[in-house]
Amino acid sequence: MEVKGLTALITGGASGLGAGAARVLSAAGVRCALLDRNVELAGEVAAELDGLALGCDVVDGPAVEAALAEVRAQLGTPRIVLNAAGIDVAIRTAGAKGVHPLEEFERVIRVNLTGTFNVARLAAQAMIGEPPLNADGERGVIINIASVVAQDGPVGQVAYAASKAGVQGMTLPMARDLAPFGIRVVTVAPGMFETPLASGIPQSWIDSIIPTVPFPKRWGNPLEFGALVRQICENSMLNGEMIRIDGAIRMGIGRS
Ligand SMILES: NC(=O)c1ccc[n+]([C@@H]2O[C@H](COP(=O)([O-])OP(=O)(O)OC[C@H]3O[C@@H](n4cnc5c(N)ncnc54)[C@H](O)[C@@H]3O)[C@@H](O)[C@H]2O)c1
Repeated sequence: MEVKGLTALITGGASGLGAGAARVLSAAGVRCALLDRNVELAGEVAAELDGLALGCDVVDGPAVEAALAEVRAQLGTPRIVLNAAGIDVAIRTAGAKGVHPLEEFERVIRVNLTGTFNVARLAAQAMIGEPPLNADGERGVIINIASVVAQDGPVGQVAYAASKAGVQGMTLPMARDLAPFGIRVVTVAPGMFETPLASGIPQSWIDSIIPTVPFPKRWGNPLEFGALVRQICENSMLNGEMIRIDGAIRMGIGRS
């Protein structure tokens, strides 16, 4: 799919991986709409990219519908959707520090899994009403973000791992649902990328985990993530799969 001249809707686009992908796509001629609950920060990135910033919580159905309508009116229907809004918590199931609060488990599932589905379903419905873009009959692509933690969850990551395994699990059925309309669905599972979200991880844990990345032994850069997002947009054979981008890291048990 040729990306030049298309519109992308990027949730979590104010920061980290979402902002990195927005920078890469914008440089390739894509108009970027950044949907984030931090509208001030989204505005700063949007100003840099001549894009659009929208303040919105991804779990709020009517608010996402309104934001999508605004994007369609101002930039056209998004043919690229990147679900990069996400949160993390580090709490064990049960133990010396007490039991995992149910509300915290539900909050992570709600933002990372339900929020991703909410934006994907509404954006897909909008794309379905648009004409195909190429001879394959392609109408667009939805890219979701899971994490290597979906497969190798360390201690304290039970809620986050469950949310990201859910994102991985919905990739194939969503791709199959939307295939008749020429809409692809691909999930990316990043390893360790240097973003504000990762800055919440204790330094001692970072110091122990980066040396376990086989190669290259460093943080990933959000622009490297963005380069993969661009390739997923452009390569129409990528569909219904989760791609790890992680320097071959396989996470161990973590802090014991
Ligand atoms: N950084 C990493 O190493 C890494 C690794 C694997 C997966 N991920 C995933 O990548 C995604 C992006 O993470 P990041 O590292 O760029 O984090 P980040 O904190 O830099 O960016 C996340 C953005 O999402 C926004 N957001 C959070 N909840 C929201 C909500 N309910 N509605 C709207 N916006 C919301 C935040 O305001 C923020 O701008 C997340 O899903 C994260 O789990 C990150």
